[in-house]
Amino acid sequence: MKNFWLELPRPFTVLAPLDGVTDFVFRQMIVKFGKPDVLFTEFTSCDGLQSKGKKKLEGRLMFKPNEEPIVAQIWGANPKDFYETAKYIKKLRFSGIDINMGCPIADIIKGGGCSGLIKNPKLAAEIIKATKDGAGGLPVSVKTRIGFANESIEDWIGFLLKQDLAALSIHLRTVGELSKTPAHWELMPKIIKMRDLYAPKTIVIGNGDIISFQEIKEKYKKYRCEGFMVGRGIFANPWMFNKSKNVEEISVKERFDTFLKHIKLYEKTWGNTRNFANLKKFCKIYINNFKDAGEYRKKIMESKSLKELTEIVETLRN
Ligand SMILES: Cc1cc2nc3c(=O)[nH]c(=O)nc-3n(C[C@H](O)[C@H](O)[C@H](O)COP(=O)(O)O)c2cc1C
Repeated sequence: MKNFWLELPRPFTVLAPLDGVTDFVFRQMIVKFGKPDVLFTEFTSCDGLQSKGKKKLEGRLMFKPNEEPIVAQIWGANPKDFYETAKYIKKLRFSGIDINMGCPIADIIKGGGCSGLIKNPKLAAEIIKATKDGAGGLPVSVKTRIGFANESIEDWIGFLLKQDLAALSIHLRTVGELSKTPAHWELMPKIIKMRDLYAPKTIVIGNGDIISFQEIKEKYKKYRCEGFMVGRGIFANPWMFNKSKNVEEISVKERFDTFLKHIKLYEKTWGNTRNFANLKKFCKIYINNFKDAGEYRKKIMESKSLKELTEIVETLRN
């Protein structure tokens, strides 16, 4: 089975998993704007996928070949669910499987999943093994943080590096820091030293506060991790993976047209099955960076249905 992580350019770019944002529709938009080297799905519950509610979650794992290589990100606390889910993901023909060990949502941590696993390495190891057993050779990776309450890269990252992972994405903050403090990029050289020692084959991806491709080039020279994952940076510039597009030159008309295309694809894909409030919020991404953009966004946010939203955006565009 092909390990796509080994075939990527250096440095390579990754679109971060962003729940409620990087669904199938937005990923399709990103692919058209300028494709990152790797895409991730939003995190999806293994527990949910193994329950009667499975149908409701299946859309989260929808993708098209133009997104490849694409990684399905899953979360949970029960190794058996990971085993079954990994088998299912393999059947869906994803390029890889990623285990979320970094999400800081309190209820999820209480249930033992995501960043709760930082406090329970024994269960984390069982989950990694169960996922690999079910993955049928698909590369298995982990996305995590540098520690729970305090930075603990020697223990936690050191432990993960001994699990024979294909790749490890590290959001360079502790769980306690949420996304509030600057990411601790200064820790990356130590992480790379540990990787070279314990797991020379594991690809390391740094994550936190990246806002441009230029920054990735600079960080690659300085920190030497192979990959760079961008999350909120795409809120300010969803064209950022397109090296020849200057965001300052994007016209107001193109911005409105792009938002309309997004709305139309959303309607075709999800109809009324997803949270409409999330769709409206995309105006913050597209309708900005020009005079009066705030006024336009205010009007857009007042819409109460897909039909109304489409009409408002069409009227404002003209
Ligand atoms: C709205 C939102 C949703 C997120 N959803 C996920 C998720 O589903 N899985 C995950 O591993 N991380 C998730 N994250 C964390 C991001 O992937 C990323 O690690 C974090 O935003 C730091 O990167 P950045 O500074 O480039 O944004 C989410 C973050 C945000 C802001």
